[in-house]
Amino acid sequence: MALMEIVKWPHPVLDAPGDPVTEFNDELKSLVGDMFETMYSAPGVGLAAVQVGVSKRLFVMDCSAGKDPDQRIVMINPEVLNVEGNQNGEEGCLSFPGIFTPVERSLRAIVRAHDINGNEFEIDGEELTARCMLHETDHCDGIVFLDKMSSIKRELVKRKIRKLQKAGKWS
Ligand code: NI
Repeated sequence: MALMEIVKWPHPVLDAPGDPVTEFNDELKSLVGDMFETMYSAPGVGLAAVQVGVSKRLFVMDCSAGKDPDQRIVMINPEVLNVEGNQNGEEGCLSFPGIFTPVERSLRAIVRAHDINGNEFEIDGEELTARCMLHETDHCDGIVFLDKMSSIKRELVKRKIRKLQKAGKWS
């Protein structure tokens, strides 16, 4: 396994939908292993392939941050089947280091995906699990959490990033 470099916004790979995964082979297993290692090391609770510069539709997540092996999940070709309710809470993204801002999401989400062997499964999750699945599925569709903020928040965040870029603290 190896650590991968996480790309920061506004890298163009973050704005393009990933390609569907069609081959469930050793190369995919190796990518997923590297993505888990990279996510845990960051540390973060979710990481999509586009964030390590691989334009494919998959992400890894672990809302327990490594404490519960059952929450170590990879979702390949994720598809949101149903959402319900509302939640508003602080959200971050490994491609926006140091930026945390309130984002409205559905309280509950049912997401269908393939596992590492190509078998279909569904997760019916609430609260942080729903937030994480929706945030990461957005990445697979070329959408970043900036796109989900109010326009005022979005401008504030962009201004903050421009300042960091000028100071050489955002590359
Ligand atoms: Ni993210």
